[in-house]
Amino acid sequence: MAQLWGGRFTKDTSEAVYDFNASIKFDKRLFEQDIEGSLAHAAMLCRQGIITAEEGKLIEEGLKGIRDDVENKRLEIGMQYEDIHSFVETELTRRILDAGKKLHTGRSRNDQVALDMRLYTRERVRETDRLLKELLKVILDIMRENTDTFMPGFTHLQKAQPTTLAHHFGAYFEMFKRDRQRLSDIYARMNFCPLGAGALAGTTYPLDREYTAKLLGFTAPAANSMDCVSDRDYLIEFLSALSIVMMHLSRFCEEIILWNSNEYRFVEIDDAYSTGSSIMPQKKNPDVAELVRGKTGRVYGALMSLLTTMKGLPLAYNKDMQEDKEVSFDAMDTVRDCLSLFTGMLRTMKFCPQRMEQSALCGFTNATDAADYLVGKGVPFRDAHGIVGRLVLYCIEKDMAIDELSLEELKTFDDRFDVDVYQAISLKNCVEKRVTAGGPGSEAMKAEIEQCIVYLEQNKGIE
Ligand code: ARG
Repeated sequence: MAQLWGGRFTKDTSEAVYDFNASIKFDKRLFEQDIEGSLAHAAMLCRQGIITAEEGKLIEEGLKGIRDDVENKRLEIGMQYEDIHSFVETELTRRILDAGKKLHTGRSRNDQVALDMRLYTRERVRETDRLLKELLKVILDIMRENTDTFMPGFTHLQKAQPTTLAHHFGAYFEMFKRDRQRLSDIYARMNFCPLGAGALAGTTYPLDREYTAKLLGFTAPAANSMDCVSDRDYLIEFLSALSIVMMHLSRFCEEIILWNSNEYRFVEIDDAYSTGSSIMPQKKNPDVAELVRGKTGRVYGALMSLLTTMKGLPLAYNKDMQEDKEVSFDAMDTVRDCLSLFTGMLRTMKFCPQRMEQSALCGFTNATDAADYLVGKGVPFRDAHGIVGRLVLYCIEKDMAIDELSLEELKTFDDRFDVDVYQAISLKNCVEKRVTAGGPGSEAMKAEIEQCIVYLEQNKGIE
């Protein structure tokens, strides 16, 4: 056992309690942040004359030495410590004796852990943003190459109207773009420094909170010291944003799994991103897509877990809050892995434009356009809908597409059908006529792609 307290105790904590309470196994991840925060705190103590310049120097060199030794594997973060803060302070004191014991002046582990976790999460928000940007670039490349790759658009998973692959992928571009916007909102809101709050009620030392906030790259110190040590909103917001990223990835995966199936064959996932079956030699399974879809649950789980942990907590710090870490770390790692593997899978995936076009041709995706054609000839839309409905039924019985029928056959449904109908309901035309902003028609799509290019150029990343 190696702990920072014990003075008011007459006997040792039981070993089981010590293990139950200890967080070193997972908060060792906060090592760099703990050093960085301690360096800033010590520099401030020194500047304010709370410790001497000499002590300040010893602490600075001591902390940097520990960082160096851990980085170069000369020193191991031992599991006998209660938490990462105890490890750093104990090791520092071992090295520089009494000066090390002064580092914690005007600080509590409550504001210390709040700071470490915020510094750590800030980096992970940035990392997630970078990965989303990589994914957006791949999506945009696919959009640019596929403005005339025709495919059916679906509602209720039934073929609905024709569209293009570029248009379909453009929808995902917007989703992941919003995900990035959420991250930068969260970043701006979370970037306030809790250091200097002490245990909950500030300290009696003349700390300069502005100075430490500035040293650590925060916008300003967080306003209320009780809030500083009890706020985990930013983590909940981040987990919520990560859950939405996973929901988007999972929908995308679901489509890729369908499109990669024998029934669709719209895409072929690269061998490098597929796996085989131990018994069925013909199999090539979309495991990466399935796993990403499957891992969505654990990220949602992390969000629910932390929301539940926080819901009944009285102010200010409670040990329950130590439970913020494992689930959050797991969610951050999961999303990182999912984003980078998904992007790789997408980048190497082959599309089968003929299959997509064929599928659009044989599913009556031009039925709305046939009705619109009649509207153009003066038929009220509701009547045109009925006429084309009967026409489709006839085609189903004959196993033919609308545009495979002869003009004579068409005229038996309505004599306003004329030879120009074939042009009007051709796949290319059906798409081309959809010129409303945001639609798949080539002019609209060109404008949309242009906006995507500008967006990626302008939004390089957080900070
Ligand atoms: N391991 C603790 C956590 O993760 C650090 C803060 C401990 N503070 C305390 N008063 N015991 O929340």
